[in-house]
Amino acid sequence: MSCSLNIKNISVDIDGIELFKNISLNVLHKEKIAIIGPNGCGKTTLLESIVGLCPIKEGSVELFHQKIGCADDFKPVRHMVGYLLQDSDNQFLAPIVEDDIAFTLLVRGIDKSEAKARTNAILNDLEISHLAKKVVYHLSGGEKKLVALAGVLIAEPKLMLLDEPTSGLDFEMQLKLTKILKNIDKSIVIVSHDKEFVESIVDTIYKISPDGLKRMSNFKTEYAHTHDGLPLHTHPHEH
Ligand SMILES: Nc1ncnc2c1ncn2[C@@H]1O[C@H](COP(=O)(O)OP(=O)(O)OP(=O)(O)O)[C@@H](O)[C@H]1O
Ligand SMILES: [Mg+2]
Repeated sequence: MSCSLNIKNISVDIDGIELFKNISLNVLHKEKIAIIGPNGCGKTTLLESIVGLCPIKEGSVELFHQKIGCADDFKPVRHMVGYLLQDSDNQFLAPIVEDDIAFTLLVRGIDKSEAKARTNAILNDLEISHLAKKVVYHLSGGEKKLVALAGVLIAEPKLMLLDEPTSGLDFEMQLKLTKILKNIDKSIVIVSHDKEFVESIVDTIYKISPDGLKRMSNFKTEYAHTHDGLPLHTHPHEH
């Protein structure tokens, strides 16, 4: 099966101090994985390394077999990758919501009426049609996240890199997002500190530590059972 992302033994230093090392990860075509870990462990930095925004000290990163060492290396594969930034304010490309969402399509030369129709469809899917004419910087935190996500989804990337997609979302919206991401037939890497959220979407969960990625149990996909009067549980294991 073809590989969307291949990371081999990378390490990253921040201000001369090692943040993490020995990170290896393979994401196959249409595979969904999540990377979890506490604040400051390097989740966002890892995504930035994948798209060439953060230099790696050792190892290699390949996106669709293109070696990524710097931002320029990312350009040839950029159209295949949708990157949802942790801070939505950094994501917007136009001041009005509907223009922002349509931006990527217009840059690709898709005609205005088709871009408009696809924008309306995405707004509708995410139930945010009422935001179409709003100024992006006036939106609430959760609304910003949804508009940014719409901008990622509309480009129909082959691989989605989602940095904390649930931050700022209320419970109903989290459930909706879970459903959307479950139904998307693409490669997805979700970075989150919310294990419960990612458990219902991805097949494999990794925890990031200074020494590498550790594979975690996924309660939803592994054998859950009871014994000795204990509530339903799985036994954690690492690979
Ligand atoms: N450009 C930078 N300059 C200085 N320090 C940085 C830079 N980028 C990241 N760091 C530091 O690297 C560490 C990892 O940051 P990162 O944003 O990757 O963490 P994270 O796991 O995404 O955390 P969170 O869950 O809070 O989003 C933090 O201590 C952060 O302060
Ligand atoms: Mg982060």
